[in-house]
Amino acid sequence: MTRTFYIKTMGCQMNEYDSDFLAQSMIQYGLFPVDDPNHADIVLINTCIVRAKPEQKALSFLGRMNAVKKRNPALILGIVGCLAQKEGANLMKRFPQLDLVMGPRELAGIHEILKPLDSDRKKIVATKLDCGPAPRVHTPGYFAGRPTAHLCIMEGCNNFCSYCIVPHVRGREVSRPSVEILEEAKALISEGVRDITLLGQNVNSYLSKENKGLNFPSLLCKISRLEGLWRLRFTTSHPKDMSEEMIQCFREIPNLCPHLHLPFQSGSNRILKAMKRGYTREKYLELTTRLREVRPEIAITSDVMVGFPGESDKDFQQTLDLISQVKFDSLFSFKYSDRKGTVAEKLPAKIDEMEKTSRLSILQGLQREITLKKNKAFEGREVEVLIEGKSKKGDMLTGRTPSNKNVNFISDNNCFNSLAKVLIKDGLLNSLRGEAVKNE
Ligand code: 5AD
Ligand code: SF4
Repeated sequence: MTRTFYIKTMGCQMNEYDSDFLAQSMIQYGLFPVDDPNHADIVLINTCIVRAKPEQKALSFLGRMNAVKKRNPALILGIVGCLAQKEGANLMKRFPQLDLVMGPRELAGIHEILKPLDSDRKKIVATKLDCGPAPRVHTPGYFAGRPTAHLCIMEGCNNFCSYCIVPHVRGREVSRPSVEILEEAKALISEGVRDITLLGQNVNSYLSKENKGLNFPSLLCKISRLEGLWRLRFTTSHPKDMSEEMIQCFREIPNLCPHLHLPFQSGSNRILKAMKRGYTREKYLELTTRLREVRPEIAITSDVMVGFPGESDKDFQQTLDLISQVKFDSLFSFKYSDRKGTVAEKLPAKIDEMEKTSRLSILQGLQREITLKKNKAFEGREVEVLIEGKSKKGDMLTGRTPSNKNVNFISDNNCFNSLAKVLIKDGLLNSLRGEAVKNE
């Protein structure tokens, strides 16, 4: 009988990529994917612990899967990703139902790990951090019908921003060889993928050792020239490593999408210093101005947090001021939460939870106004949409513009994975809505 697996993916795009990789490996191992954990022989939970909230979510999903395992003791239950890396064997002690705990740098070994799990049901903890990025397997047909895909170009991070757990659980920065990346991009394109997002914790510091120090702008140029690739994107960039050469790519590479996610975290120089971010608010403002000079239609999105230890009302006002000046297309905003083992965890002057909630709500109110105004400005304009499927309600088609805006639209004759011209009728808070323009 064919055995089945289910992967629950939580957290960032890197985790989505890792889950796709795991799924392909498991298909090659002879397993079949299912979309209900109750019908699976193997359940893997790919976790995120960048903030307290996703960590709680991961633990609560694990709790639910424990109950499934009680009903079905033959189930192989595994925790993978950042929570697995951080807690290691402790997780096994806390959750005796677990069979497998596997960190992000161990994923390449999933075949070897599954074998002993299968044969003698030994419990396995795999949390080495010094292994290089996994050589990626590609399962032919896996991406068929998907117009968009992620492609990881590097693993880990060397920055150690004072609040961040990522370098502790994903290890030091290692760039994948450019030849391997290009091969993977070609394989995706050959299956019909037309929009690729390159992934890394800090893509600007990509450097291919194998290829005479090929840097990120040169890698972008190479990938952009691959036949059949309509749209190229990347995330995440660090403001301190955003060079003029990189900015010029937005002028020079026609299929590089006019969208940049550039986390700023705080608008106060005092807090940026305590965060060890390595840039000032002035430098950040200069970067965004320069980007818009080079590519006026560029959409800029960002991450910000409120309530970092010691953040005064004045610091917070400076964050609001930066938001008003830059006018981001959209913003991911978070309350600071202590992450065990980071420098910020040990800082004094922690901000009260209620105060954080109040600051977050003020900040989000300000950003809502900006986003809505920007989206309303699209009304009456035509945009190009790469169609990804049906809208959530099922009555429209859905896709994204080059600047990464979600568009839901009515159409009689457009098909998935193709480009459509859409006339925007409504600019809403989270999406644009319109009608396909009929071809003459
Ligand atoms: N608390 C709150 N937000 C955090 N982030 C990272 N670490 C923390 C933390 N300890 C946010 C940052 C980052 C995003 C992925 O998550 O804004 O860019
Ligand atoms: Fe974390 Fe900073 Fe690295 Fe981003 S750049 S992953 S915020 S340490």
